[in-house]
Amino acid sequence: MSQPKVGIIMGSQSDLKVMSEAAEILKSLEVPFELTVVSAHRTPERMYKYAETARERGLKVIIAGAGGAAHLPGMVASMTTLPVIGVPVKSSNSIDGWDSVLSILQMPGGIPVATVALNGAKNAGLLAAEMIGAYENEVAEKLAAYKTSLKEKVLNSAREIETKGYENFL
Ligand code: RP5
Repeated sequence: MSQPKVGIIMGSQSDLKVMSEAAEILKSLEVPFELTVVSAHRTPERMYKYAETARERGLKVIIAGAGGAAHLPGMVASMTTLPVIGVPVKSSNSIDGWDSVLSILQMPGGIPVATVALNGAKNAGLLAAEMIGAYENEVAEKLAAYKTSLKEKVLNSAREIETKGYENFL
């Protein structure tokens, strides 16, 4: 695989089920990525090193997911000039998910984190691919094909419902 352009990190292995959706969509778009666990609270030195070396290692964007008191995306964003996409995870220590959302969303002025929906790792992967696609035509073309496939899916289902009647789809 070529050099990773997207770094996917998460606070715990327990975030992996959600965060793997970012990896899967990047894989399908053939965008090279790396994936690992980096905890803001349990391995702060590792987080520091990851963020500090991200650019020189060739990463263009970082996707960071965490749950509960979710400091990883914001802390990583404070230590790099790469764009950081935050994924709030509804984890075992989340009250209801709002804790993760607000921890990642409500960044102070100057340190942006592009926050996606709760458990929205798939969109985080797509957003990262769009950032790469802004300067790599091949990726932009794959994204265009993906969006066309979404459109066709909706049009097909509309056609089916209209011709067969909605009752057949309940
Ligand atoms: C956060 O605490 C992690 O991102 C995870 O969502 C949550 C729970 O971690 P574990 O106790 O499952 O390792 O830092």
